[in-house]
Amino acid sequence: MGNAVKKIMIAPSLLSADFSRLAEEVRDVERAGCDALHIDVMDGHFVPNLTIGPVVVSAIRKVTKLPLDVHLMIDNPPCYIADFRKAGADWITIHVEAEKNVRKTLREIRKLGAKAGLSLRPQTSVEELFPYLEDLDLILVMSVEPGFGGQSFMSDQMSKIVALRRPFKGLISVDGGIDPANVSQAIDAGADVVVAGSAIFGKPDRAKVIQEFRGVAKKYC
Ligand code: DX5
Ligand code: ZN
Repeated sequence: MGNAVKKIMIAPSLLSADFSRLAEEVRDVERAGCDALHIDVMDGHFVPNLTIGPVVVSAIRKVTKLPLDVHLMIDNPPCYIADFRKAGADWITIHVEAEKNVRKTLREIRKLGAKAGLSLRPQTSVEELFPYLEDLDLILVMSVEPGFGGQSFMSDQMSKIVALRRPFKGLISVDGGIDPANVSQAIDAGADVVVAGSAIFGKPDRAKVIQEFRGVAKKYC
């Protein structure tokens, strides 16, 4: 990885937060030094779970200055991207499996002033992303099957990060089952952003977990 110290961004996934105290949870991880907030949007069709819509994103927007990294696990994303942008999303990621006109949708996201991201399920080949690299600011590599927090990390997905690292100049984010014990695999492969839900919100001292993540990142620079 050369001599330069690579700064890894840590993005807690709010799915594992205590939703009855959402504003406090957001402020807590912001104070703990995270770099972005990952927000999982699920529609009950693309994945078998229902979560957050634009109303909740705009409520979160009011209590934090952190970039809001909105991960759309929904069918028909073009219908909703303007609403999420209006609600305060800074990064908007769609799934390559969810949309026929991927390029047009990514360009639309950029036109709205957000970073455009593309994600893929574990069974989807990384080659599916290659036609869109120029239209992307962010790639989100899933290391669990999308739908739920708290699943086990799939280390075989790290080869996708390796394959993308050279041709792709933007941010590579990794999402699912990540904790301080396995994050080195993602960093070693070339990830820039680490999304972690249960590993951060499942512990009372979030600053300590974030420091643990950063401690691992340092060793890999
Ligand atoms: C899964 C979501 C993830 C998930 C991460 O569909 O995209 O962001 O909430 O949670 P953990 O870190 O618990 O796997
Ligand atoms: Zn996610």
